[in-house]
Amino acid sequence: MSKAKIAVIGAGLMGHGIAQVFALAGHDVTITDAFPASLDTVKSRISANLRDLGDDPKAVERVRPIADLAEAVKDSDYVVEAVSEDLSLKQKLFAEIERHVQPPTILASNTSVIPITAIMSGLTHRERAVGTHWWNPPYLVPLVEVIGTQWTSEHTVAWTMALHRTAGKQPAHVKKDVPGFIGNRLQHALWREAVSLVERGICDAETVDTVIKAAFGRRLAVLGPLENADLVGTDLTLAIHKTVLPDIESRPGPSPYLEKLVADGKLGFKTGEGFRRWTHEDQAALRANVLAHLKKARESD
Ligand SMILES: NC(=O)c1ccc[n+]([C@@H]2O[C@H](COP(=O)([O-])OP(=O)(O)OC[C@H]3O[C@@H](n4cnc5c(N)ncnc54)[C@H](O)[C@@H]3O)[C@@H](O)[C@H]2O)c1
Repeated sequence: MSKAKIAVIGAGLMGHGIAQVFALAGHDVTITDAFPASLDTVKSRISANLRDLGDDPKAVERVRPIADLAEAVKDSDYVVEAVSEDLSLKQKLFAEIERHVQPPTILASNTSVIPITAIMSGLTHRERAVGTHWWNPPYLVPLVEVIGTQWTSEHTVAWTMALHRTAGKQPAHVKKDVPGFIGNRLQHALWREAVSLVERGICDAETVDTVIKAAFGRRLAVLGPLENADLVGTDLTLAIHKTVLPDIESRPGPSPYLEKLVADGKLGFKTGEGFRRWTHEDQAALRANVLAHLKKARESD
C-alpha cells in the first residue's frame, strides 16, 4: 500500500501505540487529543517504545501532534478514533470529524465492545465507517478486528484490511457488528466461567488463573479451540459438551460476586485488591512478565 495520511484521535494508551505502528510502516500520522498533557508527551512515549523494541527511531518523525481536531483530520485518507470508551463522546466526535473530511476518507473506531452501528449511525456517509479493534499494546499484539456494519462498503473493508496487513498487523474480518466482536466475546465467555468457579467455591481466584496458564493457556497461542475440537474429534467434543455445558455458567448478566467486589471498592490494581490482593511490587512484576512474554512472541513471529 502506498503512503497514506492517517489521523489518530486520542493519544492515550491505544492511540499513541496505533500512531507508532502506522508511522513505522511509513505513513504520515497526525495525532490529536483534547488534553494537552496527553499530546505533549506522545512523541516521547513513542520514542521510548521504539527504542525499547529496537525499531527505527526515525519513525517518530512521521508523527505530528496537532491540538486542533479539524486541522488534524484535514486531508486525511483514514481517521481512527481511540478516545475514552463512551458512546455519546464517540458519536459527537464522528459527527464533528465528518464536517472536516472529504467523503473518501475512511473513519474507524477502536472501541473495545460498543457496536460500530451505534457509534456511526448518525453519519451522512456511513459506507466509509468501520470498526478496527486493536489489542494492547498495539505494537506487540498482532491482531486487529475489522468490523463492518450493514452500511460499510466492500471497498472500506478491503482498504482497511490492506492498510493493517501492510503495516504488519493481522487483520480479521468481523462480518456482523455484534457487541464485543469476536475477541472480547470469547475472552469474556471464559471470564464469566472463571468468576463463577470462584463464586461457587470450586476454587480460589489464583487457582483459576494457574489452571489456565499451566494447562490449555500454554497451547492457546498455537492451537485455537476449533482446531483443538477437530484434533480431538468433533464426536468427543459433542460428548464433552453434553456433560459439561449444562453445568457451566450461563446467566445473561454480570455475576453478583463481581458486582459485590465493585460495590466494596475492590477494583483490582487501582485499589490494591480485586479477586486477589496486589502490592505495588506484585503489580509491577505481573506487568513486566506480560510485556516480556509479548516481546518474546514478537521476536519469534
Ligand atoms: N486499553 C485497552 O486495552 C484497549 C484495547 C482495545 C481497545 N481499547 C479502546 O480504545 C479506546 C481508548 O482506550 P485507551 O485505553 O487508549 O484509553 P486512554 O484513557 O488511555 O486514552 C484515551 C484518550 O482519549 C483522550 N480524549 C478523551 N476525550 C477526547 C476528545 N473529545 N477528543 C480527543 N481526545 C479525547 C484522553 O485525553 C486520552 O488521552 C477506548 O474506546 C477503549 O475501549 C482499549
